[in-house]
Amino acid sequence: MLIDNHNRIINYLRLAVTDRCNLRCHYCMPSEGINFVKNDELLTIEELKILSKTMVDQGIDKIRITGGEPFVRKDLMDLLRYISQLRDLKELSITTNATLIGPHIDELKALGIQNINLSLDAINRETFEKITRRDQYDVVHGNMMRLIEEGFNVRINFIVLEDQNIQDIIPILKLQETYPVAVRFLEEMPFNGGSKNFNTITWNYKTILEYIKGFYPNFEKLAAPKTSTSINYKIPGHQGTFGLIPSFSRTFCGSCNRLRITATGDVITCLYGKPKMNLRSLLRDNYLESDLKAAIQYTIGNRAKTGFDAQREHKNVFQNSMTSIGG
Ligand code: GTP
Ligand code: SF4
Repeated sequence: MLIDNHNRIINYLRLAVTDRCNLRCHYCMPSEGINFVKNDELLTIEELKILSKTMVDQGIDKIRITGGEPFVRKDLMDLLRYISQLRDLKELSITTNATLIGPHIDELKALGIQNINLSLDAINRETFEKITRRDQYDVVHGNMMRLIEEGFNVRINFIVLEDQNIQDIIPILKLQETYPVAVRFLEEMPFNGGSKNFNTITWNYKTILEYIKGFYPNFEKLAAPKTSTSINYKIPGHQGTFGLIPSFSRTFCGSCNRLRITATGDVITCLYGKPKMNLRSLLRDNYLESDLKAAIQYTIGNRAKTGFDAQREHKNVFQNSMTSIGG
């Protein structure tokens, strides 16, 4: 079992498989001139398999595949086939923008991968195209509907962006009136050197809830696991649920159970921290399972207690790129 220096069990690995993405969301990437990492710096699928297996042996029982956009990686299904059969893994999930998932939906279902979190910051075409700078609206919408129809557990992650998508909050919330999906509203986070002053944000989770209350005054709070990032609610008579993720307010750090590994093998022990170590050379040069396990143990023994503490450890943490951290 992996236990951190604050006595928290770490059982959730967020594994980024690429830093590339086929969308260009304003808050995440510039429109051009992006320095993606070189191919030989990315962990290979074989290295990702070794890493996943080792960490499951150490006590990880939930792996979420992130990116960039995970399906940009052509050999992703090979990795998913492997991870999905690891005996002690309880949950394999994916966070995706749903542009490229279409051809893989049948196989994902056959592999038993049920939890698909869909990053979608707009429900109207115009908002979508403005934010993503791409014309993938129909593809994303079509894939989302197919995932719902096929019975996947779909969670829609909508980042509330001041002056950009406020008008889409209620229309996207309505999805859960008709369909059994969770629509989750996320606070904006300051990564990628945004131009805003991020000591505060206008649309924090309380403001978002008040806004929703103006349209739907009756909802009930649902019980959630201690480690959940989202505070979840049910509107009577609606098929699904909605939730709030205080990603910037960081109300859930006390029960943090997660570790991130980037596509280049950096270990990130807190979303608001800098990488603590790189595992690539350990996986590449004279690989020894015991060295890898010791390195993972070491990083877990040196975690900040909260996202605020992690932020204080570094001056330029907000220059971190969300595409490489995997959200
Ligand atoms: P579930 O497994 O469905 O509970 O998903 P998740 O919330 O763990 O993962 P997801 O990839 O859907 O994350 C959605 C968003 O939640 C991210 O983009 C972040 O904004 C926020 N988030 C996820 N993990 C953390 C975390 O450890 N710290 C903070 N501050 N925010 C997080
Ligand atoms: Fe864990 Fe850091 Fe996220 Fe808090 S901000 S939940 S400590 S990763």
